[in-house]
Amino acid sequence: MNSTRYIIWITNLSFAAGLLLFFYTRPYVDLLPFLVLHRWLPVLPPIVPPLFLFAVTALWLWFRTKGKRLLFLAVIASFLPVLITLSAPILPEVLFDRQWFLITIVLFILSPIFITIASPLIRKLNVCRIALFILSAWLLSFSFMFFVFLLMSRANALPLSATFALVTGLSVLTYSLSGGKCGFTSKLLIMANVILFLAAIAQLFFTGNAKTSDDIEEPLRKAALITAGPYLQNMQKTSITILWETTTPLPGKVIVSPRKEALLSPEIEQGDSPAEGQCITVESPSVTIHEVTINNLAENTPYYYRVVSNGVGLEIGSFRTAYEGSEPFDFVVYGDSQEMFDWAEYLVRNRHKEVCNSILTNSPQAQFVVHVGDMTFLGNEHERWIREFFGRAGELIRNTVVWPVIGNHELNASWYFDYFSLPNADEHYYSFDYGNSRFIVLAVEGYAVGHEYGPPTRTPMEPGSPQYEWLKKTLENSQDKTWRFVFFHQSPFASGIEGGYTPASKIFEPLFEQYHVNAVFSGHDHLHEVSIKDNIVYIVTGGGGGPVFSLQPDLRHNPYSCYFKATWHHCNVHIADDGFEIKAIDLKGRVFHSVKVIGNYSPNITLQE
Ligand SMILES: [Fe+2]
Ligand SMILES: [Fe+2]
Repeated sequence: MNSTRYIIWITNLSFAAGLLLFFYTRPYVDLLPFLVLHRWLPVLPPIVPPLFLFAVTALWLWFRTKGKRLLFLAVIASFLPVLITLSAPILPEVLFDRQWFLITIVLFILSPIFITIASPLIRKLNVCRIALFILSAWLLSFSFMFFVFLLMSRANALPLSATFALVTGLSVLTYSLSGGKCGFTSKLLIMANVILFLAAIAQLFFTGNAKTSDDIEEPLRKAALITAGPYLQNMQKTSITILWETTTPLPGKVIVSPRKEALLSPEIEQGDSPAEGQCITVESPSVTIHEVTINNLAENTPYYYRVVSNGVGLEIGSFRTAYEGSEPFDFVVYGDSQEMFDWAEYLVRNRHKEVCNSILTNSPQAQFVVHVGDMTFLGNEHERWIREFFGRAGELIRNTVVWPVIGNHELNASWYFDYFSLPNADEHYYSFDYGNSRFIVLAVEGYAVGHEYGPPTRTPMEPGSPQYEWLKKTLENSQDKTWRFVFFHQSPFASGIEGGYTPASKIFEPLFEQYHVNAVFSGHDHLHEVSIKDNIVYIVTGGGGGPVFSLQPDLRHNPYSCYFKATWHHCNVHIADDGFEIKAIDLKGRVFHSVKVIGNYSPNITLQE
């Protein structure tokens, strides 16, 4: 082999190494299943992989454009916007908000013009062909950017493959318009891409609008003028609160019975109260958000209930009252069910409904659900609550109490406080007991970086603030409980795009350690992560339906991370007297990770994949 061939091989290999390193450290690396080895990755400064890729690409091009230095410069200039697009850590929030976006667009627009000027081959073509080449190159650039956006937003398979088809098709077209020779393979590629593209269009046409999956459409609910619910809140040993929302203020009532048959009488169907003696009927005044508390119930007992609204008896719901004691139980934690923008509904299908169905199927024994925040994309918009939260979770929350945690997307708007009925005067934070455990919900909602959708409100949490003092007292009083679990939106330890929230860890951690908190659950990063620090298990469970976020290894700053996976899921927690187990369950019902904790003060913690 002569020296030129050696150089060609070296440049080829270094280019491949540059690409591998770059994609290894991109947030969408786990889309390439064969590359998911994140624990073995070196922690690199974020700039290193793109710079390395740029250097090896320049080297590669230098040897292939020998004698045409102007062309080398033009091609390397056109590679820059591609690199910037691929380097953007998250779309659309960062890319569309940054000055980088403008620079990228300008470079995208100018680069085919540079190449035309620099290439003797293109310069020889007629004006019409040159114009077509530039147009095709622009379309290629924009479809490529759109492809990256879809890739990072975990778009559905067909829009993703159709855009990929568009990108490869336009690449071949641009190449042939620039005077390059298109062989049989190129033509075959174009044919395959056209078929893929048409299939995607056909699917869009036949499946229609993905938005119409809500429960709201049901005729019964329409007749009862219901927009949200009925759903359960504030489950206690002898009481529970039932809520529902109607389109206009009108009176309503709830009928509760330990016997399901008692709620099936024709009188209730017609909106009357039943004659059955075992039923409790509680009236609600003429309001839109109805909040009815049922008292004097028996502890740890199953009940059925039926809401009557506008003279219509709705579907029967069920619940079980809480209890105190060492009997084992299960609960579910999930979060970040927020959806994407309206226009992205088809492209990036939201999975909240699927997550709720998975909870119903795979964790039917759960006594309650904790939602760790970001219920809707914009918590100050009523229709988003109806569609994104109540529409998707309707069946789940009719039969299982959902304890909410306020997230940054709730925007501290009044809807959160109107819709949830919580056992504390300040509903930002509260606690409840179940079985042998205490559950503590905190608010760190306004501290997220990069969310400017609403007013910058935040619940103070520093020592001396009401929340901090309340937490201290609540933890102090919980030492007679076997287990203590804490929930707040932004985890102190996370490796995803959002990253760990350091102030929360600095402020809360000493209290968690002092008062033996056993596990802390959060969301915010749309993924599943397990971290362990000082015998406390920190879980991020933000795969509740919104677009999932991937690992950001080059920005990784969580030294306590033990497991990470970006996928839609929920956590099932099984509590016993001697220990507890947290299982992460995906949409197919597979337990993809579990954490087993045995013993309280110096526990034996085992992880299993
Ligand atoms: Fe979120
Ligand atoms: Fe969040």
